[in-house]
Amino acid sequence: MPLATILGTGAALPEKIITNADMEKLVETTDEWITTRTGIKERRQAAPSESTSMLSILAARKALDMAGITPQELDLIICSTISPDMPLPSTAAFIQTGLGAPACCAFDLAAACSGFLFGMTVAEQYIATGKARYVLVVGAELLSRYLDYKDRATCVIFGDGVAAGVLGPATPPSGILATEMHTDGAFANQLYIPAGGTRRPASCETVTGREHYIKMRGNELYKVAVRSMEEVSRRVLEKAGVSADQLDLFIPHQANQRITDAVRERLGVSAEKVYSNISRIGNTSSASIPICLDECVRSGRIKKGDLVLMAAFGAGVTWGGVLMRW
Ligand SMILES: CC(C)(COP(=O)(O)OP(=O)(O)OC[C@H]1O[C@@H](n2cnc3c(N)ncnc32)[C@H](O)[C@@H]1OP(=O)(O)O)[C@@H](O)C(=O)NCCC(=O)NCCS
Repeated sequence: MPLATILGTGAALPEKIITNADMEKLVETTDEWITTRTGIKERRQAAPSESTSMLSILAARKALDMAGITPQELDLIICSTISPDMPLPSTAAFIQTGLGAPACCAFDLAAACSGFLFGMTVAEQYIATGKARYVLVVGAELLSRYLDYKDRATCVIFGDGVAAGVLGPATPPSGILATEMHTDGAFANQLYIPAGGTRRPASCETVTGREHYIKMRGNELYKVAVRSMEEVSRRVLEKAGVSADQLDLFIPHQANQRITDAVRERLGVSAEKVYSNISRIGNTSSASIPICLDECVRSGRIKKGDLVLMAAFGAGVTWGGVLMRW
């Protein structure tokens, strides 16, 4: 019996749009290459005055409004981010004070693109055990701050965005039916930022060496992505005793349209049941799935009673899945 569900969603995107034509002016690339290899046409870029917590607070307020919950009722805030306001303290702490939430537990979660689904899974556990009634989960990334605009293999892919979900007790049959989360550190070198941590503290050398930017082995990651998203999708479906053809909607992490298509085909889900906004938003890491969710909820694409599967993979590598009845 489902014990927790999403009561409200909200998103906040920076206004500035970077098109593929803009990218052509920055690096040696073409709209044709980016479109055929990734499906991306444009992505958002935060203004210098914007921060991860600032956009998170905007998204969280919208999610709380939809849920009909006040910030004072929150028992836990989880911010999934790999692009925090600062290394210390957590971005969740800034979100808490910005919302005017009580001194409840608030922490950041680092699972890259799988982070929102990891956050949902943690929130579900807190609600199921009675430790919390209402939990705010935010997926928040300003990845443009970590992009090397001289590296054409990465800067065209990632974008900025934030979205949030408020989780609370479910009214069956609605709610979270099955969750999965996994990590395999053996693939840590496929997507990483070399410097800025304890192994390579910031120095003139790390800055001139462009070591504070995202490095990616895209080709290798592609295969892991398809394999892990298919596997985790099958696992959550099996746990819940649901077959792929019963799904009303599949929301995969928006990493690359080709990855989405390959996973969809392997699972046998029809194309019209798969949500994609990658052409407009790009890859926003842990914000990717909640932005999709918010778009689907607000546009009526998700209706009450729908079976919704979400699956993600990301740096670590991490991968996770959540199956919900809306
Ligand atoms: C990144 C990705 C789109 C690259 O596509 P690909 O088909 O694997 O391309 P390759 O990396 O093999 O590169 C092919 C060529 O395109 C070039 N290339 C890379 N980026 C380019 C760009 N933006 N524009 C033009 N050419 C580009 C490469 O330099 C390479 O040239 P070469 O053959 O002369 O060496 C693809 O590997 C991918 O999506 N991987 C998964 C990445 C991902 O999802 N990351 C996020 C994880 S959450």
